[in-house]
Amino acid sequence: MSIAYLNGSFLPLEEARISPLDRGFLFGDGIYEVIPYYGGKPVGLAPHMQRMADGLAAIEIKCDKSIEDWRVLLDDLIAKNADQGANLGVYIHVSRGADTKRYHAYPENVEPTIFAFAFPIKDPEPVDRTKAHGYAVSSTQDLRWKRCNIKSTALLGNVMHYQQGHASGHGEILLYNENNELTEASSSNAFIVKDGKVITPIQDHQNLPGITRRIIIDSLKADGSIPVEERTVTMDEVRNADEIWITSSSKEIAPVIELDGNPVGNGEVGQVWENAFRIYTERKFDF
Ligand code: PDD
Repeated sequence: MSIAYLNGSFLPLEEARISPLDRGFLFGDGIYEVIPYYGGKPVGLAPHMQRMADGLAAIEIKCDKSIEDWRVLLDDLIAKNADQGANLGVYIHVSRGADTKRYHAYPENVEPTIFAFAFPIKDPEPVDRTKAHGYAVSSTQDLRWKRCNIKSTALLGNVMHYQQGHASGHGEILLYNENNELTEASSSNAFIVKDGKVITPIQDHQNLPGITRRIIIDSLKADGSIPVEERTVTMDEVRNADEIWITSSSKEIAPVIELDGNPVGNGEVGQVWENAFRIYTERKFDF
């Protein structure tokens, strides 16, 4: 049975209830996180919860939980859901809360709604390019808003893009801006590899400051064997890349072998992916 956390209590997920006047429901007025736990150990708990604090501050929702408060709460949630499997994702959602009316301006004296639940996630891929699942993806112009750095629960723009890819049989969709520059993907960050160098778009308002992205960059820099660069990436570079990766808390580093029906590089999962994924796997619990 899935046990959820809602506003101070643990209860079966199917019994959790919120008001239809909750601003998360009416306006998508909230911030969320997804954190992976492997064998009970989180990847990037502190940076995830710091990103949540930054997002809440950006939209002026007051939530006084410290990272340590979250760690205790989430450890408890993971323990209560141990029967769901060894590898769990935790979804955390803080909305502005339920008002007594529907009115756009931020209400005063409304308590935020705090919700979390755990769900099984798949085992990490083997660190072996011959066994890894390669993604086929498509691409389209990024039609979301100009604050993609905020991890808002208002995900309709992302959902519509993801569905666009899904409807044409693709596991993800790469997004580019009006200048034909890669931003990210609908639910992941994106990297390319060219001539042995790993390159990813700079972090700005056009993409989410992904925690997996950060762990990859910091791990590769600390290891030193693979050069990594954050800079503008054009779609011409993406189409001519040796490798493409998409990254997220649920996918870790996922290799892309086909883009818009064309093979990426030689159409196989690349050697740089395997090397980088090994480095990431060795270091991911240090963050
Ligand atoms: N998605 N970009 C977007 C638009 C995302 O939705 C995500 C994550 C990422 C990767 O961020 P991170 O490495 O911190 O997971 C990038 C989550 C997992 C989701 O919505 O389910």
